[in-house]
Amino acid sequence: MKAIGIRRHLPTDHPSCFVEVETPRPVAEGRDLLIEVKAVSVNPVDYKMRGRVAPTDGAPHILGYDAAGIVSRIGPEVTMFRPGDKVFYAGSIKRPGTNSQFHLVDERIVGPMPKSLDFATAAALPLTTLTAWEALFDRLDIDRTGKHDGRVLLIIGGAGGVGSMAIQLAKKLARLCVIATASRPQSADWCRKLGADHIVDHSKDLTAQLKDIAQPVPDYILCLSDTATYFPVMSSLIAPQGRICAVVSATKPLDLQPLMDKSASFHWEYMFTRSAHQTPDMIEQHRLLRETSVLIDKGVLTPTDTEILRPINAANLAHAHGKLEAGRTIGKIVLADW
Ligand SMILES: NC(=O)c1ccc[n+]([C@@H]2O[C@H](COP(=O)([O-])OP(=O)(O)OC[C@H]3O[C@@H](n4cnc5c(N)ncnc54)[C@H](OP(=O)(O)O)[C@@H]3O)[C@@H](O)[C@H]2O)c1
Repeated sequence: MKAIGIRRHLPTDHPSCFVEVETPRPVAEGRDLLIEVKAVSVNPVDYKMRGRVAPTDGAPHILGYDAAGIVSRIGPEVTMFRPGDKVFYAGSIKRPGTNSQFHLVDERIVGPMPKSLDFATAAALPLTTLTAWEALFDRLDIDRTGKHDGRVLLIIGGAGGVGSMAIQLAKKLARLCVIATASRPQSADWCRKLGADHIVDHSKDLTAQLKDIAQPVPDYILCLSDTATYFPVMSSLIAPQGRICAVVSATKPLDLQPLMDKSASFHWEYMFTRSAHQTPDMIEQHRLLRETSVLIDKGVLTPTDTEILRPINAANLAHAHGKLEAGRTIGKIVLADW
């Protein structure tokens, strides 16, 4: 089968940034599904991992953590899927990635693909939806049936992949008042279109802007950008007994002390936790993706792909990584077909 990997960290304009290789097709065992990959999407974790892997002269490292495709074979312990099923998923950080024609994934982190979507549009969804969903509903403990209707959520980094799903989940399911940050007219428009009630600019003073929109004390803050940079302003803004969730590793120690007086809490969300640690509740990611499919098919949630590159090859992967590294993409970039 064809696979696309890296042998060492190279910039995206280097002709060998990614290499295309032929590798043996893997065999499904246990609860694994062998997926014929039809489309993948790229996430910041892809370029972060590209920068971290040890150089090799042997088999290249295969990256990629979002895919949509068809179940080709199943392991002997699989109970939820059959060959021919269309599925979407974000794989495990501990296993080879999805940038290959066939890919193994544990059925407990796979969902049935939305019936109304093609492979490319479906591939944009899993990783960002899992992250936004777990952050809002598991870590911040927001009620997803609307019992916290009207409470205020500030999302820092609204127009990116995760923000695009977080705005929708917070608005359309939880019925919160959503303030999203965006620094450009086109990213602000995108956040508004997805349901954000207010837009503030993360390149300007957030405290003053929240006062201007008469929402100075958010009950929840979801930070989708540099945690250490935003931690002081988040600590200052958060409501008494409020909750903050971050998804980006801190580049320096965080001072939690300012949260004590307000009994405010800080939470991490890492969407690979369940698969990496094989937690007993890892099947929640299957359930969550199944529910996402239903919500997409009912039109409650809107797909977030904004660019589809064809085919899946080394040049297009390098192009997509380069755009993501610049930190200004809106929604999601997808690669489809071989
Ligand atoms: N822990 C986890 O499980 C997990 C999962 C997914 C992602 N992440 C991490 O979360 C971060 C966001 O992921 P993503 O997929 O949403 O990224 P993304 O799609 O690359 O985000 C792009 C957006 O970031 C915004 N942005 C750029 N600079 C910013 C700043 N200084 N402050 C606030 N927003 C800024 C831009 O908005 P403007 O153009 O309006 O400036 C742009 O629309 C990444 O670091 C990623 O690695 C973690």
